[in-house]
Amino acid sequence: MTLFTVSVALDGDRHYDILIGSGLLAQAGERLKALGGNSVAIVTDSNVADHHLDTVVQSCKAAGLNGHSIVVPAGEKSKSFAHLEQLCADLLEARIERGDLIVALGGGVIGDLTGFAAAILRRGVRCVQMPTSLLAQVDSSVGGKTGINTAFGKNLIGAFHQPSLVLADTDSLDTLPSREFRAGYAEVAKYGLINDTAFFAWLEHNHGAVFAGGEERRQAVRTSCAAKAAIVMRDEKESGERALLNLGHTFGHALEASVWYDGGRLVHGEGVAIGICLAFRFSAALGLCAAGDAERVERHFKAVGLPTRIQDIPGEVSSPEQLLVLMAQDKKVTQGQFNFILAHGIGQSFIARDVAVSKVEEFLQQELQEAV
Ligand SMILES: NC(=O)c1ccc[n+]([C@@H]2O[C@H](COP(=O)([O-])OP(=O)(O)OC[C@H]3O[C@@H](n4cnc5c(N)ncnc54)[C@H](O)[C@@H]3O)[C@@H](O)[C@H]2O)c1
Ligand SMILES: [Zn+2]
Repeated sequence: MTLFTVSVALDGDRHYDILIGSGLLAQAGERLKALGGNSVAIVTDSNVADHHLDTVVQSCKAAGLNGHSIVVPAGEKSKSFAHLEQLCADLLEARIERGDLIVALGGGVIGDLTGFAAAILRRGVRCVQMPTSLLAQVDSSVGGKTGINTAFGKNLIGAFHQPSLVLADTDSLDTLPSREFRAGYAEVAKYGLINDTAFFAWLEHNHGAVFAGGEERRQAVRTSCAAKAAIVMRDEKESGERALLNLGHTFGHALEASVWYDGGRLVHGEGVAIGICLAFRFSAALGLCAAGDAERVERHFKAVGLPTRIQDIPGEVSSPEQLLVLMAQDKKVTQGQFNFILAHGIGQSFIARDVAVSKVEEFLQQELQEAV
């Protein structure tokens, strides 16, 4: 069975590998042992615990490691100060020391919460990410951003804390609900749309196999991780190029906020799918990109069953004015001007720093009129 390794080389001793393959959770113990440390705290959520915790615990036991399991409630609400406090208390109670390891076994929620706890516990304990959702395997487990949400917004409290190892077991995705898989796929396609035309074309031909599992799925995860790692290596703290990873996210975050983060109506990846389509149609409306490219993006998302229009969100649709207010609250807005990721075409995204608010409003009005 193929095992892919993507290396993330950062300055100092912060070099780590992302391993992508089948059956990696069952090998977790020996791979953790190789990193040193006697105790391992495995943090997971209540859904993932049902399917995968035992595999990791048994593997740690077999490797002679002292393992502790900590299960937090599933869902975005766990990315809070209250859950962070509880998790830190649990880790201290388990006597996790500086030389030990903290494992984040789960989706992006567990990765962000656990990574942040690892960053601050005893001023920094090593963290190993074991992502089990597609979104976490291709995005959140790579790059070292960790954090929690507050009433002021998502991810506003956090730290950069690079993992010591990432184990992406693609078999673990077999238990992921299909809606979550599809949502994560929007982030996979995003990498093609940012700067890899050939990858997007490959996805157009192979998406069925990627959804079905097997070799193509591993390939897609590998290409996505490599794309993210390459950008992170060039711009770890997002002073420039890393912002490209936000393609579709300025619109997407506003849409998520407009439904009050009600996952029943819209999960993150679905917001990103609509946001990417909006970014391409907006680019076309501004004359920056061929209309045919925007149509091609929409066609692909539709083919995999992702939403592509604001009107695809069930329930009442927000007004352009409401969406603009929500976009202005997003952290990617500086000095009253919208920071947007726009595109000259598929695989040709760029950072636009001076997009006039009036243009965005005009575009959203047009988009929403097409609803009726
Ligand atoms: N740090 C970053 O760079 C970064 C990047 C993107 C997103 N994020 C964050 O990631 C989070 C979203 O991540 P997510 O989409 O993975 O959400 P999630 O962690 O909530 O997982 C989605 C759902 O799938 C379940 N699940 C996960 N793996 C499973 C499996 N193998 N089998 C069965 N169920 C499984 C979870 O319990 C949850 O119900 C957001 O909080 C977002 O802010 C962070
Ligand atoms: Zn995202």
